Amino acid sequence: MNTALFISKESNKTIEKATYTWQTPSNIALVKYWGKSNPQIPKNASISFTLNNCHTITTIEFLKIEKSSEAKFELFFEGKKKDDFKPKIAEFFKRIEKYCPYILEYKMVISSENSFPHSSGIASSASGMSAIAMCLLNLEKELNSDLTDEFINKKASFLARLGSGSASRSIEGPLVVWGEHPEIEGSSDLFGVKFPYKIHPIFENYCDTILLVDKGEKQVSSTVGHNLMHNHPYAEQRFTQANENLSKISTILQNGDIKEFINLVESEALTLHAMMLTSNPYFILMKPNTLEVINKIWEYRAQNNSNICFTLDAGANVHVLYPNTEKTEVESFIKNTLTVYCQKNQYICDNTGFGAKPN
Ligand code: PMV
Repeated sequence: MNTALFISKESNKTIEKATYTWQTPSNIALVKYWGKSNPQIPKNASISFTLNNCHTITTIEFLKIEKSSEAKFELFFEGKKKDDFKPKIAEFFKRIEKYCPYILEYKMVISSENSFPHSSGIASSASGMSAIAMCLLNLEKELNSDLTDEFINKKASFLARLGSGSASRSIEGPLVVWGEHPEIEGSSDLFGVKFPYKIHPIFENYCDTILLVDKGEKQVSSTVGHNLMHNHPYAEQRFTQANENLSKISTILQNGDIKEFINLVESEALTLHAMMLTSNPYFILMKPNTLEVINKIWEYRAQNNSNICFTLDAGANVHVLYPNTEKTEVESFIKNTLTVYCQKNQYICDNTGFGAKPN
């Protein structure tokens, strides 16, 4: 697809000052994205549940200035100036200025906060980048009132992707596919699209309890991890497998075969970590308690004929997934058995959500 479509048109309107606030969620991949080529093009298609409670709220104040050669901005996180996040955002603005040249004509004051605890090991880049993208699109819409909601979502996802790949899946919900795939109509490497088929009721309002097993900084960033897929001995098989898994999960999500869902989702989580274990340099992001939790989940599932399962992100925390119909039993199992493996017994109850909201 032609990226020229995303270059904003010149506007004959002048806006001197504007403020927009957006709330955008985090997401958890079921089929994982791990490996990319430039510029942020995924090596395989991925699909995620959009979360509801784990979100970022971002306000951007735009003040018109003389056109500058680089984006001018200040950054506040939870009320405090946050200069250490600036290089990442500056790089993001550099990448998107071709598509949003108007950002060079404003001074931007960005203020952000997360609903989840700071350094909880929950990636905030997906919700953070998508929230900035929505605020920019809000200004773009004011400058050019022809933009449709469909285009706004597409471009916001396109921009968010250039900040952090998985952020492309945080604009809509409850299920988003990113990466071109022959069986997903409208799918693209450039932006995420809502899963286009009817979802079986068992997967509606699905629950995700995030166990905060380790809240420390990751030893290896996802940027480094993605790069290690370049010379990885199993990379090609992995990309093929992920695309096949996307075909399978598309069928499962429609027919409601939850046993197949559990098998595929857990296998994807372990495969993601297997890629880390078998890269060079190799690394381990799971912690002993990650494995304790996985074993307890397997034990509980076998004994109770439950449909609980787990997935993992690039970290030690465990996402416990289960149908809404099993909420009462599973939540008491989590409380009684799993929280002892969490730092300070902390966990976050979440469920699938519908994406970005103006605030
Ligand atoms: O969006 P990034 O570059 O932080 O990569 C995220 C990759 C995983 O979270 C591990 C998997 C995924 O698909 O979200």
